[in-house]
Amino acid sequence: MAVLEIEKRHTVTQELRAAIVGTGSVAVLHAESIAATPGVRLVAVADVMPRRAAEFAATHGAGAAFESIEQLFAAEQIDVVHLCTPPGVHEPQAVAAFAHGAHVIAEKPPALSLTELQSMTDAAARADRRFAVVFQQRTGTAADHVKRLLDSGALGRALFAACDTLWLRDAEYYSVPWRGRWETEGGGTTLSHGIHQIDLLAYLLGDWRAASAQLWRQERDVETEDVSTGTILFEAGTVASVSTSVVSPRQTSSIRIDTERATIEVDHLYGHDRSHWRITPAPSVSAEEAAGWEFPHDDTPSGHDALLASVYASLIAGDPLPAVAAEPARALEIVTAFYASARLGGTIGRPAVQGDPELRGTLRAPVADNRP
Ligand SMILES: NC(=O)c1ccc[n+]([C@@H]2O[C@H](COP(=O)([O-])OP(=O)(O)OC[C@H]3O[C@@H](n4cnc5c(N)ncnc54)[C@H](O)[C@@H]3O)[C@@H](O)[C@H]2O)c1
Repeated sequence: MAVLEIEKRHTVTQELRAAIVGTGSVAVLHAESIAATPGVRLVAVADVMPRRAAEFAATHGAGAAFESIEQLFAAEQIDVVHLCTPPGVHEPQAVAAFAHGAHVIAEKPPALSLTELQSMTDAAARADRRFAVVFQQRTGTAADHVKRLLDSGALGRALFAACDTLWLRDAEYYSVPWRGRWETEGGGTTLSHGIHQIDLLAYLLGDWRAASAQLWRQERDVETEDVSTGTILFEAGTVASVSTSVVSPRQTSSIRIDTERATIEVDHLYGHDRSHWRITPAPSVSAEEAAGWEFPHDDTPSGHDALLASVYASLIAGDPLPAVAAEPARALEIVTAFYASARLGGTIGRPAVQGDPELRGTLRAPVADNRP
């Protein structure tokens, strides 16, 4: 429960009042996580499709449904806004939510560009509110265990990584009007799907130094790319090969990290627990030492539940956001470097992505079309 200091001697507890804006497919995961989290209540929802909003409110026990975020804020005082709308409206909606005095939890990708993301983080700072982005692949006991092992140095230096998001999305998926278009989706599968694994990879390996990529259109009828192939060089010298696709019949989301002392692998689709991870020690590592790298048995899987539970715990305690929700810009910076590389050619360094307004303003880039 959020604790309000009324007077020095008296404290009262108060539930956080949450609202979901955008009641499409991913919103269900948010409503279920809110329902499972003590100290927070879903009080209202909003969607430009009024019937969808009303049905969602009835299903998930929200007291009110609105047709816009403006109507929502005019009628209700909200403490936390969950943005489950298409990414093209995240920026104005987040700015409105911060002006209302709410914290914001935004779905990935947080925005269509780093310029928009900066506007959101600036608005959060001005309002002294928290801004969390849903990169739920960082969460779960197993990812935490691997991060601790890597950070401790027990596995030696990370040398090479492979990061694959090989999914299948058909024409029906792209029939939703905002998908597949630069204007409304901001980018293709690299921005919308690959960003999850790229975020997890960067969460594990730390700061990046430079990146390059090429964009391909192999089959789908989209303006953006349906395949990309990229390379990331991390500050620690680790080189990573990154492939992203929506034309892959056997789907997988996988990361492999080869360090001096082990190979770490995770192979899953939309979420992972300890059963999806494997650490293979190098021949030089004793069985006794490798036994100490075993994954913990009290296993919390990755996902919205884990992420939102830890974000709400920090909001309720008044603490900074947890590491699993910190650094909202890092994955978008890497993805921005990929698109800029496809546009300009060559390798794009982190300073350019962090400082050049032209790079930060858009992801639009030429896509090599290999369709017959
Ligand atoms: N973290 C994940 O695993 C995950 C999974 C799926 C989608 N997402 C992200 O969630 C977001 C939404 O994706 P989705 O698949 O749920 O989309 P969706 O199209 O199913 O739902 C979006 C909803 O927002 C509504 N909407 C559109 N504009 C609006 C506006 N201005 N105000 C209020 N409502 C508006 C639409 O009517 C629709 O109901 C995207 O950013 C997407 O990338 C994340």
